[in-house]
Amino acid sequence: MTSILVLNGPNLNLLGSRQPEVYGATTLADIEKMCADWADANGCTISFAQSNHEGALIDHIHAARGVSDGIVLNAGAYTHTSVALMDAIASVDLPAIELHLSNVHAREDFRHVSYIAKVSIGIICGFGARGYIMALDAMQAHVKD
Ligand code: DQA
Repeated sequence: MTSILVLNGPNLNLLGSRQPEVYGATTLADIEKMCADWADANGCTISFAQSNHEGALIDHIHAARGVSDGIVLNAGAYTHTSVALMDAIASVDLPAIELHLSNVHAREDFRHVSYIAKVSIGIICGFGARGYIMALDAMQAHVKD
């Protein structure tokens, strides 16, 4: 059975109340439930985590080695800054999908830079909470290929 880590970075614990005009009204708990329901319906297991701390996110990525078949990563603002997260993904030899709720390319220039994209099989952005399901679907298909 395919196992996928869904990992969320800084400030995503505040989804639902954080800039809803940008990120929507769905909470992270709602998204976790959507992902769990999708996993049940699609013969997949997921683990779901969030941290505001770069080192803790790296620990989650390392812990996925030998446990998960792929990583869906919404690294939040660390996407645009973190060489350490990029190195962590490159180090574990697992496929990763970069995910964002918002369309980062329609926003400020600094959000157009991604360290995570360099080590990802693909990127999904701009579809809000639905993007999580799109990413899980894409990861499951990739792992089965
Ligand atoms: C985000 C986009 C990032 O630029 C931002 O820093 C976030 C959320 C998104 O899901 O749209 O924290 O990753």
